[in-house]
Amino acid sequence: MMQVTRPLSFENVVSMEDLSADDVMSFIQEACEFKQGKHIQLKRPVYALNMFFENSTRTHNSFEMAERKLGLQVVNFDPSHSSMSKGETLADTLKTVQAIGVDVVAIRSKINDYYKELVEDPNIHMGIANAGDGSGQHPSQSMLDMMTIYEEFGHIEGLNIAMVGDLSHSRVARSDMEVLTELGAHVYFGGPKKWFTKDFAKYGQWMPIDDLVDHMDVMMFLRVQHERISDDENDGFSAEAYNAKYGLTEEREQRMLPQAIIMHPAPVNRGVEIADSLVECDRSRIFTQMHNGVFVRMAIMESMLRARNLIVDDED
Ligand code: CP
Repeated sequence: MMQVTRPLSFENVVSMEDLSADDVMSFIQEACEFKQGKHIQLKRPVYALNMFFENSTRTHNSFEMAERKLGLQVVNFDPSHSSMSKGETLADTLKTVQAIGVDVVAIRSKINDYYKELVEDPNIHMGIANAGDGSGQHPSQSMLDMMTIYEEFGHIEGLNIAMVGDLSHSRVARSDMEVLTELGAHVYFGGPKKWFTKDFAKYGQWMPIDDLVDHMDVMMFLRVQHERISDDENDGFSAEAYNAKYGLTEEREQRMLPQAIIMHPAPVNRGVEIADSLVECDRSRIFTQMHNGVFVRMAIMESMLRARNLIVDDED
């Protein structure tokens, strides 16, 4: 197991682009310690709020679970009943909940880069964790993916990892490809070639799935994001045809390396990216990813609390 060289302290955790490979490994180490039962002590009652402007099951509940496990008080927020429906901006909404006493917030938004103006606003002092922005970044998902791979193999360097599916709309692919490369993995891409845009080509080559399955240590499938593709594309979409051409079938799973694992950030379109029968198969780490997400989000929240001197550390 690698060693954390310093206690993690980040004002905000909004993009994998802000984190070095060492930072990511330190977050994984910290998350592993939480998984093994580590507890923290808070200096005073601390309040968290989760603002989800896009639907979520995993990330929303996982942040809330992480906050509760850390001993934070979770304040309710319902976007449809907030004053944003009367035109209040996100920045003013944050300043409002900050004035009320909220210390940290996790935000999911449809808008790419929504967080940039917030972290630069001199009047916003709360910690902001990006819980996903449009097709931009999803740092907590990326770190839970890294944790799951690290737990499985004991290293990330040298692994062959394929991301297959709806690349162009995937904040997971964008968040993962750079950090995987920095951590020394060999990254490959698959799925419909029209979704393999030039920003991906910097990190790895596209290959047909039949050339990937026999060589990869990790086959990571990405959801076809029907809500982000055109009506014409949705009208012409066939689950069976997609699975046969780009997805994991039972026949392809049989050809995977003995140690190879299947990942997917979920929600999964069963029978599209992955055959229904394989979602819970022995190689699948899909529910392990979700389980690990709680501990990664504890590490993210802890780092923002430490940056605000809200944690009793060993030297206190
Ligand atoms: N993986 C993920 O972000 O899932 P949710 O949209 O359910 O949060």
